[in-house]
Amino acid sequence: MKILGTGSALPKKVVSNDDLALVMDTSDEWISTRTGIRKRHIAVEETTTSLAVEAAKKALDEAKVSIDELDLIIAATVSSDYIYPTLACEVQAAIGAKNATAFDISAGCSGFLFALSTADAYFRTGRFHNALIMGAETLSKMMDWSDRSTCVLFGDGAGAAVVSAEGNQLLGMVQGSDGASGMALKCDNRPVNNLYHQMGTQTYSYTEMDGRAVYKFAVRTVPNAIGEVLEQAKVPVEDIKYFLLHQANLRIIESVAKRLGQPMEKFPTILEDCGNISAASVPILLDKVRKDGMINQGDKIVMAGFGAGLTWGACVIEW
Ligand code: COA
Repeated sequence: MKILGTGSALPKKVVSNDDLALVMDTSDEWISTRTGIRKRHIAVEETTTSLAVEAAKKALDEAKVSIDELDLIIAATVSSDYIYPTLACEVQAAIGAKNATAFDISAGCSGFLFALSTADAYFRTGRFHNALIMGAETLSKMMDWSDRSTCVLFGDGAGAAVVSAEGNQLLGMVQGSDGASGMALKCDNRPVNNLYHQMGTQTYSYTEMDGRAVYKFAVRTVPNAIGEVLEQAKVPVEDIKYFLLHQANLRIIESVAKRLGQPMEKFPTILEDCGNISAASVPILLDKVRKDGMINQGDKIVMAGFGAGLTWGACVIEW
């Protein structure tokens, strides 16, 4: 497969740590020293669909793939606007991609990696040729804004890539899940509730996280996954130009860099300005490094995600 174009979209409203400190018991010092996050974009007029559509249109413009040629649309999200129809189907309708099969993937912050892997697997059947893959979230609506330990970490946005079955950019891919540890990061759906059985009251649920457990999971799993995918791709770690990691916490990224013995200059970040945007973090970062002219033909990059499930994924791409 080959990435033909990328795009991203962020809500207009920017909320700094100082802005949050005006409305809750927190501080720029607490948030930035523990996470590296200084601000985040929060949806006011935007929705998950509108952000995904904006990112998708930019990726399609760059890819120069006609709408009729798109035969696959995969959206990775945990915060679609509807339980159904899916975000992918909403985007399909908005861009008029009538020939595409469209569906969502729910794999938390690993979602974009899972979408890329799924597109690659579909391509290998020979039945699909051009895919639009996206990570798009409005996590702000899933936060308990009275829980300062979670709501300060997350933001909203979308990233997209158009990928084609032609080409051999993908040198390796690993994925994994640990459902047994899944309750460390969760958001309840509606409980069973009908005429015959009621398990709870119908209330909105919000993100709940055991931050320390997720932190430990990330610093253990991500370097292992990257080591595994580099071995699979037969690429020495020194040959990787950039490691595009899920943007959850600067300390996690620093720990991964240390474990891999690689300098922080190889780990570009957007979390200072965006916070954690779950499935959208990696594609937004990919779009940024490309648009900043940081990737040239022949460069090898690693992308890696980790998060709810618990799940993880890592790939090596040669540009
Ligand atoms: N502002 C000020 N104080 C806060 C706060 C906030 N926004 N959030 C929590 N605190 C307080 C807590 O109440 C607690 O106080 P107490 O000790 O009096 O009970 C204290 O800060 C906890 O601080 P600390 O133990 O230093 O937290 P930490 O080092 O574990 O950092 C996280 C917390 C969430 C930043 C960290 O665990 C983390 O980043 N985990 C990974 C989360 C993640 O990446 N999730 C997404 C994965 S996809």
